[in-house]
Amino acid sequence: MKVLVIGGGGREHALVWKISQSPWVKKIYCAPGNGGISDLAENVDIPVQDISRLLDFASSQKIDLTVVGPELPLTLGIVDTFEKKGLKIFGPCQSAARLEGSKIFAKKMMKKYGIPTAPYEVFCEFEAAQNYLKKVQYPLVIKADGLASGKGVLVAENFEEAHSFTQEVMVKKIFGNAGHEVLIEKCLVGREMSFLVFSDGKTFAPLPEARDHKRVFDHDEGPNTGGMGAFSPVPEADSRLKEKIMREVFDPLLTGMAKEGVSYQGVLYAGLMLTRQGPQVLEFNVRFGDPETEVILPRLKGDLLPILLACTEGKLSPIKVEISDEVALGVVMVSGGYPGTYQNGYEIQGLNGLAKEKNVFVFHAGTQKMDGRYLTSGGRVLCISALGKNFSEARSNAYRAAEKIQFEKMHYRKDIGLTQLKMKN
Ligand code: AMP
Ligand code: GLY
Repeated sequence: MKVLVIGGGGREHALVWKISQSPWVKKIYCAPGNGGISDLAENVDIPVQDISRLLDFASSQKIDLTVVGPELPLTLGIVDTFEKKGLKIFGPCQSAARLEGSKIFAKKMMKKYGIPTAPYEVFCEFEAAQNYLKKVQYPLVIKADGLASGKGVLVAENFEEAHSFTQEVMVKKIFGNAGHEVLIEKCLVGREMSFLVFSDGKTFAPLPEARDHKRVFDHDEGPNTGGMGAFSPVPEADSRLKEKIMREVFDPLLTGMAKEGVSYQGVLYAGLMLTRQGPQVLEFNVRFGDPETEVILPRLKGDLLPILLACTEGKLSPIKVEISDEVALGVVMVSGGYPGTYQNGYEIQGLNGLAKEKNVFVFHAGTQKMDGRYLTSGGRVLCISALGKNFSEARSNAYRAAEKIQFEKMHYRKDIGLTQLKMKN
């Protein structure tokens, strides 16, 4: 089979790595890919949002399955376009992708189908939002409705913060039309968890849960990023909690989507807050998470390809998604300055030494390969994932490997999984 993976981050490297282990796969392409991906797949220089060129490529190369990494092409309708041409593609159609593309749509679905989430109000006028913000209690959470590259959410501590964020979003339109409407919702307290399921439109099957670390510095300090590390499993997620999430979140949502005439095919990701009142949904993503995928896929036993294919064919129910008992932990190495400004083009040293390390997986994100050398080319550069029989082993494998990597102005968090190490071993 010929497979095309769309995207070029650590998530897509992990997908390409896992798919490349399938005996059914002859050739993998990745658009646009990155330096590390080019060792396993042929990079194709087409941006993820250029759907007509991606379609031409997939048709002319007779691609048997396309797997979509990021949300943008999904919300632009890549799945509808490919399916119309009879091409198999893993991911939800455009109307299902609204679960991520519009936070208001997601909230309406949750309200209609009784899914636990924070109470909220919607505003399309700045003045009305200000009047509301003057009379409410803080902290509270403000969200731009549409896609904003992970920057559209503020946990506001006071009116001044809330005022200036809503002004940026609604008046200055820093996210364009994505900020045409905003949601203002109650601030929930608890620990976060990412829970993903495969869905074929009729049935669904859970993947291993994970925890992301969004802040740039240790002890959750500094600004939010695209993710500085992750681990899986999440110790407090026992089987009772996971069953509750399936029963209270995924079952009603996917059944509700079907009732609305929208069949959800692909992977569905719920960002959850584990509160004292139970799990509550913060957001839905219509794709694999990043960096969650870099710790989820190393725990997935067996061949990923038949699962992806089964989702596209509505044949997931007989398939068993098997998960290893091992712990996976990933440390994201970033360019100094990220998530603000940073420089690219620094050579990454120490990668060769890790190639033979058992239980260590180096997933590239912002890298490019030139003359056999890997250079930095983005904010998040690498995710070093490692497996271990417990948190302590997974952590030490990941950090031992991270210490061997070097590039100028490199930064990574030293505390991924540290609390869990004390909780469970
Ligand atoms: P979202 O993109 O909706 O997941 O929001 C990004 C981040 O904002 C989440 O990962 C949480 O850390 C935080 N967040 C979002 N909604 C809430 C909420 N209702 N209460 C507390 N934190 C939240
Ligand atoms: N890790 C958060 C996301 O993928 O959106």
